Amino acid sequence: MDKTQREAGAAAASFYDALRSGSLSSAALGYGGDFVGQECTLLPREMLIFARRAGVGTRTSVLDVGSGTGGPACFFAEQLGCQVLGVDVSAVGHERAVARAKEAGLDDRVQFRLGDIQDVDLPPDSFDVVITYDTWCHIPQRAALIQRCAALLKPGGRMAIFDHVERRPLPAERREHFFTVWHFPVLETPRSYAEALEAAGLRLTVRDVSSAYAARFYTRLVEGFTAQREEFEAIRGTERYLEGLDRLQMSQQYTTSGRLGQVAYIAEKPAG
Ligand SMILES: C[S@@+](CC[C@H](N)C(=O)[O-])C[C@H]1O[C@@H](n2cnc3c(N)ncnc32)[C@H](O)[C@@H]1O
Repeated sequence: MDKTQREAGAAAASFYDALRSGSLSSAALGYGGDFVGQECTLLPREMLIFARRAGVGTRTSVLDVGSGTGGPACFFAEQLGCQVLGVDVSAVGHERAVARAKEAGLDDRVQFRLGDIQDVDLPPDSFDVVITYDTWCHIPQRAALIQRCAALLKPGGRMAIFDHVERRPLPAERREHFFTVWHFPVLETPRSYAEALEAAGLRLTVRDVSSAYAARFYTRLVEGFTAQREEFEAIRGTERYLEGLDRLQMSQQYTTSGRLGQVAYIAEKPAG
């Protein structure tokens, strides 16, 4: 790993550790009864649809990159019967993920590794599916990351990426600030993502782009965050509360205007 990669991993770890340090979860607030521990912008049934489209089923071995507090990994194992290894750089996320799997009695099929996906030691050619939800936006040098994950896939395996992208340029005067507050080293466009996957020798089979999921998510979060201001402020303090609100409001504005969105791409590694 070079200095940029190391710094991005460390920045993401401390950002998410801090967000997870209190008992209140913004994602839980946004999802209500649809919360299964996910911190991405999808409802459980939408996560399942994407995983199924990538071929996740009984006996599939899945690598979940940026597994957070383990919600998606445990949900897939329970619903689809697959084996999952989740990797995350946040120590708080990792600890909660391990506890979640144990509590659900899934720890024989769901394991977690604390580490940076850019250099954690994993066996090559060993996963049927590499899946990731709203994580790769935190990792620089996307082409290198794609190549690394492609090497971890078995021949014929699938890479399923659900991630933030810049669909139209963000306002120039706010762009850098937005990237800084979210710890996004860079955002791909739908096209540059597709090009990077193809350059790694993968064949794109699903190519969906939308702002709708993220607009829904950030709108709910802004509402909940505003309604529960007192509770969040008591835990995080006024300065951090206002920083969080600014981050969420910008995200809501850029997703509802269609500048910011997400790709749901699935790409296959050649079998031969
Ligand atoms: C928005 S959260 C999504 C978590 C999870 N995918 C979910 O949907 O619940 C992004 C996650 O990516 C992790 N992450 C960021 N950079 C990483 C890296 N270089 N290696 C491993 N995990 C990383 C963060 O720690 C965080 O848990």
